[in-house]
Amino acid sequence: MNFGAGRGGGDSPFCVIILCVKMNIRISTKEDLPGIVQIEKKSFSVPWGKEIFEEKLNSLLVALMQENLIAYLLFEKVSDEVHIIRVATHPEYRRQGVANALISSLLNSSKNEGASSAYLEVRESNAPSIRFYESLGFEAAGKRKSYYSEPDEDALLMSKKL
Ligand SMILES: CC(C)(COP(=O)(O)OP(=O)(O)OC[C@H]1O[C@@H](n2cnc3c(N)ncnc32)[C@H](O)[C@@H]1OP(=O)(O)O)[C@@H](O)C(=O)NCCC(=O)NCCS
Repeated sequence: MNFGAGRGGGDSPFCVIILCVKMNIRISTKEDLPGIVQIEKKSFSVPWGKEIFEEKLNSLLVALMQENLIAYLLFEKVSDEVHIIRVATHPEYRRQGVANALISSLLNSSKNEGASSAYLEVRESNAPSIRFYESLGFEAAGKRKSYYSEPDEDALLMSKKL
């Protein structure tokens, strides 16, 4: 999969300039796991452990700035659909377009490889993330009852045609 496609104009790894500092996007390696777990703990009420990510390194994109891991995106390809499973940006790097760059990179490369749509679930109460996905063109497409625990909550299903 080429994550350089469609943005940044270069070869993989994908690069963008943010605040005059270059950000790289690439597929994860085992060495990225501590940074991912650290962001995970700062971002979710029920953080996932290293083992979950360890099994999915090839479906895990990371964004790095000056060699620091600042965000990640876990996805899954199912037929001609791409499923966004988890995305988080380190709190100190939010609202700088980092997660936008990660998702745009994934959607562009998936589209080039024949995917026709993308979908995701998000907690109904997670208004900032819903705004974030709307900013990328995702629209509400249904609900999944009691999809989340701790606390128990429905998921809003969102989708986007590629
Ligand atoms: C949601 C999240 C991934 C966004 O990451 P980010 O790198 O800050 O996002 P971006 O800077 O690329 O935001 C792009 C656009 O999304 C929207 N957006 C992002 N965060 C927002 C917020 N807190 N409130 C409202 N809109 C928001 C804005 O339109 C933003 O553009 P702008 O900054 O020019 O207004 C980040 O807040 C996060 O890690 N949250 C905790 C984990 C989580 O809830 N993940 C999603 C569910 S899996």
